[in-house]
Amino acid sequence: MTSAFKVVDVHMHVIPGVDDGALDQQMALEMLQMAQEQGISTVFAAPHSSAFRVLPDETGESFRLLCDTAAQLLPGMQICLGCEIICEPVYIEQVTEMLRSGIYPTMNNTGFVLVEFTPGESAQGIIHCAAKLLDSGYQPMLAHTERYIALQNSPETVEVLRRMGARVQVNLYSLAKEKNPAVLTFARQLVRMKKVDYLGTDAHRTYHRPPDILDGLQWLYQSSDKEYADALTWKNAARDLSLDQYGLK
Ligand SMILES: [Fe+2]
Repeated sequence: MTSAFKVVDVHMHVIPGVDDGALDQQMALEMLQMAQEQGISTVFAAPHSSAFRVLPDETGESFRLLCDTAAQLLPGMQICLGCEIICEPVYIEQVTEMLRSGIYPTMNNTGFVLVEFTPGESAQGIIHCAAKLLDSGYQPMLAHTERYIALQNSPETVEVLRRMGARVQVNLYSLAKEKNPAVLTFARQLVRMKKVDYLGTDAHRTYHRPPDILDGLQWLYQSSDKEYADALTWKNAARDLSLDQYGLK
């Protein structure tokens, strides 16, 4: 099965057995196959940061094994290493230290880092963490930006964050299938305001938040000009995250 779409998924929990994502190698491969059938050609395997803190050796080994197996079974699918780093103002210094020491990986070894917050984190807290990361030489990509209540209530803060240097990731299912109306409305608002930089599935398992992107992509391409939609689906990621095979620098 081939797809009309070309997509870089910057956010998937596909490394088996290290977080609340794929349970085992078989499930991880099924998730990658589902993704590939819908047009995803590059996946960032981005487990929660606890995987690298608590199970560093197992996470590295599980990632390498998944890459080797996928290279044989799913030709054309590229898997890059990432990490979804949980941030709070009270321990942002520890986060920057974990990055500096190499315990937390950046996105494909670039200066970009995928960061998440609790849904109730304050706008000031998010700004504080973004500023600390930027001061330390890392460019934050805000994971599933549409979920943060403080930003839903203050969309102008997203522009403040973007002007500082932060970038915005939105989950594809949030654009079409999200059941929380505030999240769906804000995800679409961010796209319409042209404040989104990257897309992800945030897929966890074949049966829990699976890679399911076609409705979201259809909404995106119907609601945006093609140039902007292509930037979100793959061009920004190819340019920023060292994905040389796309021919963009
Ligand atoms: Fe996630």
